[in-house]
Amino acid sequence: MRRGRPLSGSFAPPGDKSITHRALLFGALAGGTTRVSGANAGEDCARTAAAAAALGAQVVRTSDGWTITGTAGALRAPATELYCGNSGTTLRLIAGPVAARPLDVVLTGDDSLSRRPMRRIAEPLVMMGATVEGQGESCTPPLRVRGTKLRAIDYVLPMASAQVAGCTLLAGLAAEGVTRVTLPGPARDHSERMLPAFGIALECEALEHGGRRVSVRGGQTLVAADVRVPGDFSGAAFLLAAAACEPGSQVTARGVNLNPTRTAFLEVLAEMGADVRVEAERTETGEPVGDVTVRGPARLRAFDVPAAWLPRMIDEAPAWAIVAAAAHGTSRLSGASELRVKESDRIASLAAGLAVVGIEAEERPDGLAVTGGVARGGGRIATRHDHRVAMAFAVLGARLDRPLAFDDLSSVPTSYPAFFETLAALGADIVADAPADRAPADRAPADRGPADHSEHSDRGGVRGPERSEGF
Ligand code: S3P
Repeated sequence: MRRGRPLSGSFAPPGDKSITHRALLFGALAGGTTRVSGANAGEDCARTAAAAAALGAQVVRTSDGWTITGTAGALRAPATELYCGNSGTTLRLIAGPVAARPLDVVLTGDDSLSRRPMRRIAEPLVMMGATVEGQGESCTPPLRVRGTKLRAIDYVLPMASAQVAGCTLLAGLAAEGVTRVTLPGPARDHSERMLPAFGIALECEALEHGGRRVSVRGGQTLVAADVRVPGDFSGAAFLLAAAACEPGSQVTARGVNLNPTRTAFLEVLAEMGADVRVEAERTETGEPVGDVTVRGPARLRAFDVPAAWLPRMIDEAPAWAIVAAAAHGTSRLSGASELRVKESDRIASLAAGLAVVGIEAEERPDGLAVTGGVARGGGRIATRHDHRVAMAFAVLGARLDRPLAFDDLSSVPTSYPAFFETLAALGADIVADAPADRAPADRAPADRGPADHSEHSDRGGVRGPERSEGF
């Protein structure tokens, strides 16, 4: 594997996407004015802001976030369908409060979101009394939600999904009785951490295997809160992965969210031999935050990720694949069938991309086995309009002598508009090869939100810094 000048430096990741969605939506449901600072400026959160406005909240963009004057629970019927773009979190979380009110709303999305299963939210909402109609067996969008006064349920999720739990709990807040949601594993708990700041009483009981049972009584109204959003761990993970892959690299992510339901990737990096340090730990709006430094070891070793860790690194699987490709030996990910229903089928997207760079990857129904080796540039990655697949291979490209090309990078601002600027500031060489003024096919330019300021090219190449030595 050839190695060149290591990446180095520190960066502040974008605001956490999951926390920004929730702050916007809770603000829209609350009485009073909520201030969200340090917000994620990506397209997904702009969709939630636009949906909040369409449902009657007053939403104003500020220099680093939003102010939302909420509806005190009285959401209004939107004039048209609610377009959620690429954002599963927007669609799934909003369906909950809509289902609990006398509204008739059609939720739509881009090509990717239109393929994602909504049966998982339809099931609890229908049990509570709402009418939910999607397309086909998986109940894909467009999703029509006809709300009403709901009754509370005691619901055991079939998968550890924070989106399904959040949807059901938000519906439960306006239902008759106490809604109980049981998660079979450690999905992210941002809703449970943030709702008390909006005046909501809830009970959370830890269960075995990292699961939990959350109960909320219906009839509670949210009150406005100020939310300071910490840095996004999942966005930072790509740049920390870049450091882990290159001996002598040292990269620090400042002010990053360290919610333990999100950080298994740091444990994986440490198991693979990277030096991982967490400093300046503090708490912001109920969330643990700190500065994370990763240093690339002389030799990364393969590691099989225990299936039980997967929910705590669900969005870091693409970053993991890139680190596994640089390790000695075969690393395996299992228990990961949820990856097949993300923005793309990530198991297939990663396996195909690794094949393009000459890395052996075996696709399995619920995971991936990656044998590290010498990756080669010169090929073209199909990102399948998946922001995390694009960022993962951009990081891999940053280690290569020959540029790695991409069919389309317009998905990156979904979650991390400044990703390429940050990667370049840490030392990568990024070559644009197409004009930036082309909107993706499934989005009209007029429909692009205020956060859609992708300065980089839709297509381009990424290669490593000046290389001098190899082995
Ligand atoms: C999210 C939950 C996760 C994650 C997604 C964001 C959230 O999805 O993959 O990117 O903000 O609740 P699931 O809960 O469906 O696994």
